[in-house]
Parts: sequence; C-alpha cells; structure tokens
Amino acid sequence: MKIRELLSNRVQEAMIAAGVPDSCSPMVSPSNRPQFGDYQANGSMAAAKQVGTNPRELAQRIVDQLQLEDIASKVEIAGPGFINIHLSPTWLAQLVEHALRQPRMGLNAVQNPQTVVIDYSSPNLAKEMHVGHLRSTIIGDALARLLEFQGHKVIRQNHVGDWGTQFGMLIAHLEDQTAANQLAEVALADLETFYRAAKQRFDDDTAFAERARDYVVKLQSGDARCLSLWQQFIDISVAHSEEIYQLLNVTLTRRDIRAESAYNDDLPGIIEALQQQGLVQEDQGAQVAFLQELADKEGNPLPMIVQKSGGGYLYSTTDLAAVRYRNHQLFADRILYFIDARQSLHMKQVFTLSRKAGFAKPECSLEHHPFGTMMGEDGKPFKTRAGGTVKLAELLEEAVSRADQLLASKGTELTDDARRQVARKIGIGAVKYADLAKTRTNDYVFNWESMLSFEGNTAPYLQYAYTRIQSIFRKVDQPVDADAPIELAEPQEQALGLKLLQLEEVIDQVAREAYPHLLCNYLYELASLFMKFYEHCPILRSDVPAASRASRLRLCQATADTLATGLDLLGIEVMERM
Ligand code: ARG
Repeated sequence: MKIRELLSNRVQEAMIAAGVPDSCSPMVSPSNRPQFGDYQANGSMAAAKQVGTNPRELAQRIVDQLQLEDIASKVEIAGPGFINIHLSPTWLAQLVEHALRQPRMGLNAVQNPQTVVIDYSSPNLAKEMHVGHLRSTIIGDALARLLEFQGHKVIRQNHVGDWGTQFGMLIAHLEDQTAANQLAEVALADLETFYRAAKQRFDDDTAFAERARDYVVKLQSGDARCLSLWQQFIDISVAHSEEIYQLLNVTLTRRDIRAESAYNDDLPGIIEALQQQGLVQEDQGAQVAFLQELADKEGNPLPMIVQKSGGGYLYSTTDLAAVRYRNHQLFADRILYFIDARQSLHMKQVFTLSRKAGFAKPECSLEHHPFGTMMGEDGKPFKTRAGGTVKLAELLEEAVSRADQLLASKGTELTDDARRQVARKIGIGAVKYADLAKTRTNDYVFNWESMLSFEGNTAPYLQYAYTRIQSIFRKVDQPVDADAPIELAEPQEQALGLKLLQLEEVIDQVAREAYPHLLCNYLYELASLFMKFYEHCPILRSDVPAASRASRLRLCQATADTLATGLDLLGIEVMERM
C-alpha cells in the first residue's frame, strides 16, 4: 500500500469536487516536520492561481470535500494554503499489520516488468581500476540490485575498454617480458607499473614505438600471435577487476562483460547504415555527422566524427553499435548509463544520432545518469600524496584495515576471525555508503573519519542500529509472537510505523530517477526513528504489558528486516554483532 498514492488520489478527487480542473496536481508529499502532520498537500496554491481565487479559501473548499475519515485523525490548513494531514494511528497500525503478514513486507513486484540494460563500471583494461571507477561501479550496482528487486529483467553490461592503440605498446612490452622468461601473470601483477614501463619505452625507444604501432595494425587485422598476447593481457586485467568486484560486494561477473572489442565486426555496418540514411558526410577524409539538434547558439550543428580519415573507428562508433545491440538484440525498454558527467556531451551525441539512425527504438528510454568527481581533502580530484591515481584495491584495503582498528579500539567481543569479517563489511560498507549517500550529480570530498563514524548518516551507524536490534532478540527468551497485534500508542511508535510503510515509495522513486541517496536518507531516518522509539518505549522491562512488548518486538523485527533489505539494495552487508 502506497500511502502517498492513496492520499494523492483522495485529494485530487476533493479538488475536482471543489471545482479545480483535473490537470492541477494535488502535490502530496511526506511532511518534513511532525507539526505539519504526516503528509502535506501543497497543490492549493497553484490551483488557486489557475482558478483565480484565494488559495486559503480554496484549501478550505478542498478540505470540506476531502474524504479521509477512515484514515486521518486530523486535517488542518496552514500558512497560505497547505493542507496538513495527520494519519490515524489505528489505521497505520492496521497497515503495518497487513504489511507484516505479506512476503517481503508487502513490497510487490512491479506490474509491468521491463528489460533494463545497465552500463556501469566499464573500466579501461589497459590500466588497473582506480578511484575514478568507483562511483560508476557502486551506483550502477545499486540500481541493478534495486531494479531486479522490483522484478525487472536487468541486463548488466560492463562495457570495458579493451581495444585501441594503447594495446599495441602493451602487447609489445608483454612479448618482451615473457620472452625474458617471465610469466605473464608475474609481469602483469601490477598493471599500473606495467603500463608506465610500456609507455616509457614507447616514448623513449623509436624501434619499440614502431613495433607497437605495427602491432596495433596486426591486432586489428586479426594476426594470431598478437591476438593471443592481447588475450593474455585482457584475461589478467579482467581477473584484477573481478577481485575488486568481489571485495566490493558488487554483483558483476565475467558474464556481464561485453567489451568494446565485441562490437568490432559491427562497426563497418554502423557507418554504412549512417551513410545510407544520409546522416554522415565526408569531411577531410573523415565520416562526420552534423547534429543540428545539438547546435550552438549561432545555429552551427555539432560535428560528431564516427570514422577517422585513416578508416579507424572511435569510442563513439562503438557506443552507437552498443545502442543498436541493446535495442535490437537485448530488446531493452530502458538503457541506463552510469558514466562521469564529463562524458555528457558524448552521450548526448550518441543518443541523438542513435535515434535518428533507428539504432534506438523510439520507445526505448536512453538515460545517462552522470555523477560528479570524488575529491580529496584539498578540494582537488582524489590523488595519492605524490599526485598519482589511487588504486582502488589499495583504497579498499585501507578501508578494511581502518575499520578493523576502529573495532579493536572500541573493544569488541568478536574473535579475531569474526572481527576481520565484520571489519570488511564495515570498511567496504563505509566507502560505498559515503558515495551513495551523496547527491549523485555533485562532487564530494572523500573523508575517512566521517565515513567511518558511528554517528550520522553513515554505513556504520546503520549497521550498528541493525546489531542493536539483534542484541535485543538475543535477550528475549521466547520466540516473538508473530500474531501479536501491532499497537501504535506512543508517538515514537507511530513515527516508526509510518516510516516502515514508506520504503516502497522510496524504492519506486530511486528506480525512476536513479538517485540512490534517497534510499540512504530513508534508511538513516528509519534508524534514527528506531533509536528514538528504543529510548522512549521500553521493551523488555518487567513492567511492560505483554501485549506492548510483543508489538514492540515485532516493530523491532520489521525495522531490522527493512534496514537489511535497504542496505542489501545498496550492496552493503549487515552483521549480527560488532
Ligand atoms: N571505458 C570508459 C572510461 O573508462 C567508460 C565506458 C562507459 N560506457 C560507455 N558505454 N561508454 O571512460
């Protein structure tokens, strides 16, 4: 049951009965302060403008028509015409009761499941994964989990960069290292160092550079020896990213990789299709699409090169092929791209040309969900002290070891083994949550202290709230009575009960808008309301009536389940104790 939807419908009916055209929105949303009720309807102001009347008077007319006797305890008009709705605790208790009797607490699968392709993580395999890949990987994975939870068919596409001129120098260097009797695995143990060494030789040694260029050509023409070196390189690089995915608790596997090279054979056909439709022109030997849709202020169309003058293809050509594949072979209803905001123009070009060329069907939704940059304390993009890129593997190891020290300093009862496991969940959870909890489109400053704090909107705080509930259950000697009626007598119980009922609306919104911070905010509010409830409403104290205790234990259980579900959708694990 979605309360907001129900209230929207009722308010809309009342608005129509009060003579407001049905194009006016009731604008119902949860109130952000208890004195404004549980929900507020703010549509009277806009409607009054439309009808040409006083908003407060109109609000009164709407309230007179409003049929909420069964669900509200109080309806008031405030300020210029806000309608504040206080829900009836009895009704809320019934709703909670009903939700708890259903599987997944009444979170139903969507009625019209879609096929959703999600392009995320997508590192360049020439180098080791660095912090620049963190955001795409964890935000994309959260959306994949959430849409799957809703019942959609999710197809993960890890569009890794495994093709291009850099690979000539990399395989030439690999050839020399293995000829010197070094195992490829050993030579490539540190991809970053390997890349730098290859680049150094490429810059300093003209013979090597020439061989590297020759290998690029050979690779593209399918030379077996070059392909086999390339394949070795790719396999080891992919294994590196798989380790990261595992440590990060990210659901991507090898099967989700559909690399740039997978589209190689499609590229000539893409150019042909564009030519046949008259969508590209030759310009200084290159094939260029001039996009009027993205023209500048003077009306000059935006040029987009799809084939270089030498015949080579580009990043954008591959993306056009990927759109076509995802539409015509994967039958996507929606394609979500989690890519850095700096690629916004690239995505616009790809989407625009894909539509014109029919690579994307008109009914398929193409969505670039950009994100900002992860910054260091100095306000500049996050780097090592020496100014180098931070390897993701090292960052994550540091997170785990910091969490471990934190646990040790707090004096945990866990065995060493259990402590290490918990430290992993806390450390990784903290890094992921700190990212997911920020508005995606903003830059944010990476800070160890704040993300690992047990106070505030952090993963450790939520994980702690979860363990706190588990510790209550360890003190209960009898199983929780699942038939005990839910009582919402105290305001803290009402607030908690209402919050528990709002998860579905939040999930719906995140699914539509791809802003995971909305779910983080929800979980943080839920945990905070739980803590207030726990302070004010004794549970196990001997003077608490059995019926209240049983109801409160059920609320505890529901809170723990909701926290675990919500965190799991974000790819964050909980633990029984810490
Ligand atoms: N490999 C690219 C990079 O590291 C990201 C690819 C994103 N996906 C895409 N379909 N273009 O910048």
